[in-house]
Amino acid sequence: MLRFFPQKDKYIKEAAEHEFDPSLPIPQHIAIIMDGNGRWAQNRRLPRVAGHKEGMETVKKITKHASHLGVKVLTLYAFSTENWKRPNEEVDFLMQLPVDFFDTFVPELIKENVQVKVMGFTDSLPAHTQEAVKRAIDQTKDNTGMILNFALNYGSRAEILTAVQALYEELSAYGEALPELTEDMLGTHLMTGFLPNALRDPELVIRTSGEERISNFLLWQIAYSELFFTKALWPDFDSALLEDAIGSFQQRNRRFGGLKTKEEEE
Ligand code: IPE
Ligand code: IPE
Ligand code: MG
Repeated sequence: MLRFFPQKDKYIKEAAEHEFDPSLPIPQHIAIIMDGNGRWAQNRRLPRVAGHKEGMETVKKITKHASHLGVKVLTLYAFSTENWKRPNEEVDFLMQLPVDFFDTFVPELIKENVQVKVMGFTDSLPAHTQEAVKRAIDQTKDNTGMILNFALNYGSRAEILTAVQALYEELSAYGEALPELTEDMLGTHLMTGFLPNALRDPELVIRTSGEERISNFLLWQIAYSELFFTKALWPDFDSALLEDAIGSFQQRNRRFGGLKTKEEEE
């Protein structure tokens, strides 16, 4: 007979795999594809939206832990340009979530010195979602600690296309004397362009739920990111798993197309 083993046992084992060493450098910019809310709810015979609600609690916990560890930018993929394909009821719930999230969490974010930012096509969000987002950005704008960057109605192909269109407009004003288009110019026009240059590209990308794909997230910026996939569903993701992902990152040899450094060969 088939026996159901709660998935939790599986990732407790995974969590022990990579030891996190607080004395080693940690990624300054971590980006997370928060996936698996629907399955988490379905496993409990709950409506999918119950998973989104629980996922919001995980966002709070992980934000605090990342900030305490000294992460400089935490980018969270919350809603993609493709997620509008979902049933209206689920989309409506997801558009209400930022309102509830910021209402309850902004005072803590202020206490934690965390600054809220949002990247995505925010103009197409419902008015109440836009207002909640604007309010949170404004209320936390003087904070100087970790940047909590939500990708909301974000899609990387549309991001790149919009940046190229904007550059095309700007450059067409030059007529014949077109300046050279550089990586830095494109980088500045992307939605991560508000970040200082050294922080624009995530050093570590985490995806939960066992899916091993990028789903239109930060296509330009992840050229040399380290990727970490865990089977844990987003509502079950916790501080130990975040440390596990960072531990895995710490053990990797990042070569950027070059060769191992001399010290590493010894
Ligand atoms: C991630 O969880 C949250 C969003 C994409 C908004 P899902 O809703 O995709 O959960 P699964 O993948 O269906 O389990
Ligand atoms: C990616 O998850 C988007 C977010 C986490 C917001 P999806 O659940 O939408 O991705 P696919 O459809 O499995 O690729
Ligand atoms: Mg999903």
